[in-house]
Amino acid sequence: MTTSTHAYRAAILHSIADPAKVGIEHSYEYFADGVLLVENGRIKALGHAVDLLPGLAAGVPIEHHPDALITPGFIDSHIHFPQTGMIAAYGEQLLDWLNTYTFPTERQFADKAHAADVAGIFLKELLRNGTTTALVFGSVHKVSVEAFFEAAEALNLRMIAGKVMMDRNAPDYLTDTPASGYADSKALIERWHGKGRLLYAVTPRFAPTSSPEQLSLAGELFRQYPGLYMHTHLSESRQEIDWVKALFPERKGYLDVYDHHGLIGPRAVFAHGVHLCDDECQRLAETGSAVAFCPTSNLFLGSGLFDLEKLEGHGVRVGLGTDVGAGTSFSQLQSLNEAYKVMQLQGKKLDPFKSLYLATLGGARALYLDDKLGNFAAGKEADFVILDYRATPLLTYRLQQATSLAEKLFALIMLGDDRCVQETFAAGQSVHKRDP
Ligand code: GUN
Ligand code: ZN
Repeated sequence: MTTSTHAYRAAILHSIADPAKVGIEHSYEYFADGVLLVENGRIKALGHAVDLLPGLAAGVPIEHHPDALITPGFIDSHIHFPQTGMIAAYGEQLLDWLNTYTFPTERQFADKAHAADVAGIFLKELLRNGTTTALVFGSVHKVSVEAFFEAAEALNLRMIAGKVMMDRNAPDYLTDTPASGYADSKALIERWHGKGRLLYAVTPRFAPTSSPEQLSLAGELFRQYPGLYMHTHLSESRQEIDWVKALFPERKGYLDVYDHHGLIGPRAVFAHGVHLCDDECQRLAETGSAVAFCPTSNLFLGSGLFDLEKLEGHGVRVGLGTDVGAGTSFSQLQSLNEAYKVMQLQGKKLDPFKSLYLATLGGARALYLDDKLGNFAAGKEADFVILDYRATPLLTYRLQQATSLAEKLFALIMLGDDRCVQETFAAGQSVHKRDP
């Protein structure tokens, strides 16, 4: 193989540890004039320009971005690709929102050509927003996930996805059966799991839409293949929790429904977890399971305020999710903007370096991908974004007033969105370039 090396010179920032564990100062590295060296799709080196530039081999191209910040690509720990076309649907809370908007929209994904169109729009939107890895719900239809993986493979993206399993409490046109859900999921796993950068997630929608028989089979699948994910929803809204209690009176609580069926452990990712009790947090932590904090969705559906400190206090792995289409933005900068407000409403703070961690290395850790992604440690996959400090007149002006990196980063999070994403790279290749 011929060696392909590129150098990117700009301000460079990445997380190296969880601020909750090491303190803010020790949680990141910053190079005001830095160089990121990428070789054959992986990080080769990161350092100050004065140190790295003199040693660069002749002929290595150097791209210089004096008004930009390079960070690792963002990681979205929970999102639904079939809901792209129904983002921003008015007026309902979770269960009515599902029946009114979601199920009729997802019905269209029985058609592979439609699924392929939407997968293209969806991936483009993620990349426009600097998100290079996502844990993605398909629809109940096997073809929806085939279309998604084909589109992600063409761009060489590290993506995790799965076919929804749902065999009850949903319209007939959108249900599978325990046997067909198992067989379709298994076929997708054998075709796609570990192919290139793609990974599979066993995806029961949530406890109310799966029979105990289907949940058992999902648990069986989850144990069958190494490195597989389990992806579902948990304790999002009060009404939903009451429904789960009525459907599973024999179980201790919502999490116990999944636990009982073996749907817990490393690489099990539960979206929301807004109303968890201490015992549930403890169980998530001791099993190495993760929760996706989805602030724009929780606010949009009126589900409640996520208690980040409580979950982290118990040692639960937490990633950041957009949860599009209940979430209202593909942008992790905007998710962090809303996350800050969720914390404020609870009298708590969200430090900008903690925000950076949640959207990058923390997300990678929640997904057990921190050996491959999340920061610029040498050897990791070169997924990164170039963020334009001059994306809008207001951002330009606000950043001129900033006197510290923390202030700059916080303003970027609060004011930034897709307009800031100048270019996105996956495995060292440019996969999105904003119009100048
Ligand atoms: N619970 C079950 N299905 C869904 C979904 O599609 N979105 C959200 N936010 N919650 C769910
Ligand atoms: Zn969701």
